Amino acid sequence: MKKILITGGAGFIGSHVVRLFVNKYPDYMIYNLDKLTYAGNLENLKDIDKKPNYKFVLSDIKNGESMLELFKKEQFEGVIHLAAESHVDRSISHPTEFVMTNVIGTVNLLNAAKFIWNGNWEGKLFYHVSTDEVYGTLGKTGFFTEETAYDPHSPYSASKASSDHFVRAYHDTYGLPSIVSNCSNNYGPNQFPEKLIPLFINNICHNKPLPVYGKGYNVRDWLYVVDHAAAIDLIYHTGNKGETFNIGGNNEWRNIDLIKLLCKITDKKLGREPHTSEKLITYVTDRAGHDLRYAIDSFKLQKEFGWKPSLRFEEGLEKTVKWYLNNQGWLNNVTSGNYQKYYQEMYGNR
Ligand code: NAD
Ligand code: DAU
Repeated sequence: MKKILITGGAGFIGSHVVRLFVNKYPDYMIYNLDKLTYAGNLENLKDIDKKPNYKFVLSDIKNGESMLELFKKEQFEGVIHLAAESHVDRSISHPTEFVMTNVIGTVNLLNAAKFIWNGNWEGKLFYHVSTDEVYGTLGKTGFFTEETAYDPHSPYSASKASSDHFVRAYHDTYGLPSIVSNCSNNYGPNQFPEKLIPLFINNICHNKPLPVYGKGYNVRDWLYVVDHAAAIDLIYHTGNKGETFNIGGNNEWRNIDLIKLLCKITDKKLGREPHTSEKLITYVTDRAGHDLRYAIDSFKLQKEFGWKPSLRFEEGLEKTVKWYLNNQGWLNNVTSGNYQKYYQEMYGNR
């Protein structure tokens, strides 16, 4: 069986990628390596965790020796690397952890792959999953293409940019077969409720304030997480080594407009009067270094592979709200314990 290592598979996007690969490729052995930080949750995979082609490995990518031992033992042919610290606000308060996991962790994986593959590159691939935030911010017009120069502004995006550079450097210097993809904002089931959409759904349910940073005029390009997983599958199997692919929803929303739509959908599903939850909107101090606008040009991916987003945003958002309302147990589990402390630190005094 072809052995593929997926890192960060217990997190939001990783769990959708693991599910897709385990179900679609019964002849692959999928190893999900995850440290199970606050963002990692094996409950996300309970529908597939008994499948014979799935194995969970509890480990930390920051530990280079463990990575090397694991690669020696399992002799993976492919790596899809998603494990990361992923939340911009946390990177502002705790930047070092982002360097350790996102930069050092990625280099540890690259070293392990390079050592084990040892120049036998045939059939091997290191696929690095990255973000559009490495490109910095756009003004009112324009798009990020694969040629846009990197210009990260937050500790999170700086750490991701650095990890992208290391992946490309290992390709250019040692010949390590690699691909990088840079995706826009994902939304959908299983996203940790520190990110805008699940945080606000949860707050609406509990009649808590909806903390809008600044004026709410920042723009993000939203993509349903299952469409991101499908793009990763396509690129993993057919992308040329050494290349970069942008993945995006072609779906730009100002935060405030998205939030009003979210309130409308959630009110309807909860049987509340129209405009009830909009009253919870509270403008708070802006995020430091807050990028104004992200918008991805995914022409290359669409042209080469015929990929496109499968859902209209309104449809995807409705599915997403429905998932969170039907999975209150999941929400309650992930918001117990340390989450309360985080929420108090982030929003408590506002
Ligand atoms: P997430 O925070 O939901 O999940 C991250 C996972 O990585 C968790 O399961 C966590 O336990 C694991 N992890 C963290 N540190 C680890 C370590 N040291 N060792 C092993 N496992 C560790 O993140 P996500 O939103 O699913 O993002 C996944 C990847 O996709 C990240 O690399 C992120 O930069 C990238 N990305 C995310 C988005 C988005 O909108 N969420 C968009 C583009 C790219
Ligand atoms: O663009 C891809 C990136 O999208 C990923 O690389 C990151 O991992 C992911 O977290 C996401 O980053 P953002 O910073 O864009 O996502 P977040 O959900 O944190 O915020 C979305 C927008 O909403 C942003 O403009 C900040 C704003 N916001 C966010 C929160 C949490 C608020 O106004 N209030 C909030 O409480």
